[in-house]
Amino acid sequence: MGSNPWTPDSWRAKNASQQPIWPDLVELERVHKYLTAVPPLVFAGEARSLTKALGAASQGKAFVLQAGDCAESFSDFSADSIRDKLKVILQMAVVLTYSSGVPVVKIGRIAGQFAKPRSLPTEEVDGATIEAFRGFIVNDEAPTAKARQPDPSRMITAYNQSASTLNLLRAFTKGGFADLAQVHTWNQLFVASSKEGRRYESIADEIDRALRFMRACGIDITTEESLHEVDFFTSHEALILPYEEALTRKDSLTDQYYDCSAHMLWCGERTRQLDGAHIEFLSGIKNPIGCKIGPNITSDELLSLCELLDPDRTPGRLTLISRMGASKIADVLPRLVKTTQDSGHPVLWVCDPMHGNTFLADNGRKTRHFDDIISEVDSFFSIHRKLGSWPGGIHIELTGVDVTECLGGTEEVLQDHLDLRYETACDPRLNAKQSLDLAFEVANLLRKGIRRTEVAR
Ligand code: TRP
Ligand code: MN
Repeated sequence: MGSNPWTPDSWRAKNASQQPIWPDLVELERVHKYLTAVPPLVFAGEARSLTKALGAASQGKAFVLQAGDCAESFSDFSADSIRDKLKVILQMAVVLTYSSGVPVVKIGRIAGQFAKPRSLPTEEVDGATIEAFRGFIVNDEAPTAKARQPDPSRMITAYNQSASTLNLLRAFTKGGFADLAQVHTWNQLFVASSKEGRRYESIADEIDRALRFMRACGIDITTEESLHEVDFFTSHEALILPYEEALTRKDSLTDQYYDCSAHMLWCGERTRQLDGAHIEFLSGIKNPIGCKIGPNITSDELLSLCELLDPDRTPGRLTLISRMGASKIADVLPRLVKTTQDSGHPVLWVCDPMHGNTFLADNGRKTRHFDDIISEVDSFFSIHRKLGSWPGGIHIELTGVDVTECLGGTEEVLQDHLDLRYETACDPRLNAKQSLDLAFEVANLLRKGIRRTEVAR
């Protein structure tokens, strides 16, 4: 970092990769000004609670489930799609909590996950070169030059959509929908008939029984708030920096800056240059921060990232999201985990088993195979176990509906099925059944490493 003090706009002096070239700078300025005056989406105190919860996870006392769309869409925006996504996440959380006995920190890739980094800034369509789709916060996905023009007013639409998404999530998670008494209702019809759906039903029955047991013991479960609601946090990649800067506010209680566009922000694998604008921006906000870590990072780079993003070594401040690929993780991750252990940085390691396992199917669709996803998670757990480090969570891309975007699973999606319901605005997501299946696998892995004495404590 330079010698100048951090400010919400100090990133502007650095090189910002993956930014659109906004054609209308006057409009950009207007939008930016507007967004600096709107109410924040989250409150700093909530971000501090999340840091605390992640701190517990970094010490092996909780497990993180971070999940949602690759990219949220302006067109697929409805109460039903938010509800269905939440249902799957609650199902996964119940499976993980019930099977492992460890609290699960629930974080959505939602209410702000609109921007996408791209491998190429342009693409060829019918002989013409047009700008790449960078997510709905920047441009439209239609393959025409006009649709692909970056439009700053989309940042206002993204803010508004995030606000109403978050509003519904708060209503659902605090207003009765996430009550453990509702555990059966999260199992959607098309899931319930599958093998994983039936397995889920039997856990749901056990939870019913456990609640009845507590009631019979004389515990008044109606007044036990934690049974009736969940804390649900939001997160997205902090990619489009004018947007993140505009939503950064000084907290009146602590006098510190928080990016109030989400509880947690992460830095992508393509934007984590040590001297770049994204790291500069993230280093100064007090929210919990994630950083994606791919197979090419060196130990020195990793240490520098830890120093820049968490110089005070605050547990829960920094989450390293490992996205290696099933075939590379065993070669790369052990050295990196050892590096952080030796340095004493209290980082939380989370596994993203999606992004290192993407490939093109025969029909040209981007896809991932469920077996590769399981394999990467499996290696992640065994590496951490071997090193005496806590495999702190998973970060996945999913949807609540019955899409055919990832291959495999117990009701196997085959290459021929990919065209049936391929609806993602970006990367292929696990459908509800595959997500539940993954939760059972992870629950097994978690349970294996927890000794009886710890569970009984
Ligand atoms: N509040 C507790 C928790 O979040 C228990 C709980 C209530 C819960 N509803 C839930 C857990 C839904 C998972 C899913 O852990
Ligand atoms: Mn993605």
